[in-house]
Amino acid sequence: MDRESALALGLTLAVILVAAYRHAVAPPGVAPLADGGTQVTATPDPDYDLDELLARANPGQGRVLYLQCQACHPLVPGERSTRGPNLAGLLGRPVAGDPGYGYSDEVRALEFRWTPEQLDRLLRRPGDVLPRSRMTMLPLGRPEERADLIAYLQSRAGG
Ligand code: HEC
Repeated sequence: MDRESALALGLTLAVILVAAYRHAVAPPGVAPLADGGTQVTATPDPDYDLDELLARANPGQGRVLYLQCQACHPLVPGERSTRGPNLAGLLGRPVAGDPGYGYSDEVRALEFRWTPEQLDRLLRRPGDVLPRSRMTMLPLGRPEERADLIAYLQSRAGG
């Protein structure tokens, strides 16, 4: 065998060995990607009981989370902002219920009352609850954080 064929044979063997190795180490259902990473499927939201989370919620932590909302939403009753409606006493109130704020037509056309469940949905996927709203808000990923924020808003019912 000349030098070139020996080299070609060596390379072929190396390719076969690498392929066999990758096949052997990949666990079933996980496909190795070309860049060396692995394919992971998105996990759906785990089931949780909102009432149970609210019973254990920490309004003080919710107050810190509310800092993300504060720039647009006043929480002192009667206080107005052009950036967003007042959220004092939000729970139990109909949607678009702050008489001092000029809501968009899209939000004014909606019909529901704010319950903890509805607020939890808004914080999880804002577009599902206030579609085409003017509000730009990042969702809160953890159910416990959402419960903390809801508990804080409940504690500020009267201001
Ligand atoms: C950049 C400004 C901004 C931020 C930040 C913001 N919002 Fe809003 N939000 C708005 C605006 C504007 C509206 C009214 C939307 C419309 O009329 O289309 C609104 C509407 C709402 C409503 C409906 C109120 C009602 O009276 O029915 C709720 C509830 C709400 N926001 C909660 C939150 C919470 C909770 C946060 C923080 C996690 C937050 N928002 C962050 C601007 C904001």
